[in-house]
Amino acid sequence: MIIVTGCSGFIGFHLSKELLNNNLPVLGIDNLISSQNILKNWRLEQLKNYGINFIDVDITNKAELNKKIRDINFSGNFSTIYHLAGLAGVRQSVLEPKKYYNNNVMGTINMLNIATEFSLESFVFASSSSVYGLQDNRIPFVENETLESPQSPYAFSKLFAELISKDYSNISSLNVSLLRFFTVYGPAGRIDMSILKFIHNIINENPINIYGDGFQERDFTYVEDICEGIIKSSRVDGFETFNLGSSQPYSIIKVLSILKEIINKEPKIEYLPKHYADVNYTWANIDKAKSLLKWHPKTSLENGLEKTVDWYKNNKDLLASTFEKFN
Ligand SMILES: NC(=O)c1ccc[n+]([C@@H]2O[C@H](COP(=O)([O-])OP(=O)(O)OC[C@H]3O[C@@H](n4cnc5c(N)ncnc54)[C@H](O)[C@@H]3O)[C@@H](O)[C@H]2O)c1
Repeated sequence: MIIVTGCSGFIGFHLSKELLNNNLPVLGIDNLISSQNILKNWRLEQLKNYGINFIDVDITNKAELNKKIRDINFSGNFSTIYHLAGLAGVRQSVLEPKKYYNNNVMGTINMLNIATEFSLESFVFASSSSVYGLQDNRIPFVENETLESPQSPYAFSKLFAELISKDYSNISSLNVSLLRFFTVYGPAGRIDMSILKFIHNIINENPINIYGDGFQERDFTYVEDICEGIIKSSRVDGFETFNLGSSQPYSIIKVLSILKEIINKEPKIEYLPKHYADVNYTWANIDKAKSLLKWHPKTSLENGLEKTVDWYKNNKDLLASTFEKFN
């Protein structure tokens, strides 16, 4: 059986669905305490229809985590942990650093201990492009760069968790893949992230807040492409780090102009000062994932945004109540 932590989250939902669709049994782990719970419960209900085994537990609570995993009635072996559970959100982490460090570092240590105690083959960790921090020259980020300038507690928490995961691969036979995701978007996405917020606000003719001049660039990556990369990375032997990104950065202004065409409504933009924890650009060099994983992103930004807008339109009521609760 495969363990997916953060299964009710955005990427965990898509990953679990893909695994279950391929008839692979999944033990999903999540805690359901969040302002985005309506959407998380919706994702979980879908996964239950696909046959997920689910444990509602906080992974920072080691005793309860171990007990609940041991209590499930399962006679086979666990093979892989896809560890996606974590507190995401760069700006929020500046307000609550301790919470982010506890969740993202201690939670990861607990999952690494589960992996070694249950003799799993592989551990795949959801890290982030944020670990690259501020970069002076506008060139793609490469995995073997020395990382000296993460810009937020979130970025540091991911970097610490990466280093600890690497150490576990040294001291045990666990295969570890660290995946640095670049701005993932798509259907059933997070409403605290730009794309769904933009879609919601354009459709509902609400103002859109842009921090800075809007020319900051992100390497937006479609969620199904990310899931393909995640699954492929679990077959890697030893320890490796991979960037998973589209390798084609777009500015926020450009994204809004594409959404304007798709939705056929003018966005109402309101400019706010740039947040210091926001970096100017992210851009993945994906040569390593292409050569070792035989992975490349297949979805263009235009196509991915169209699919996301379609999903929004088909789930308008769900989104309306999720946004209402969130704001
Ligand atoms: N979405 C992106 O663009 C992106 C980019 C880089 C990295 N990541 C990382 O990928 C992972 C998944 O991201 P996402 O966008 O799906 O985020 P998400 O917030 O939608 O999902 C994370 C899930 O983890 C769960 N979780 C958090 N803390 C937990 C705990 N202590 N115990 C149990 N469950 C817990 C949450 O309830 C949530 O459902 C995160 O670790 C995130 O940092 C995401």
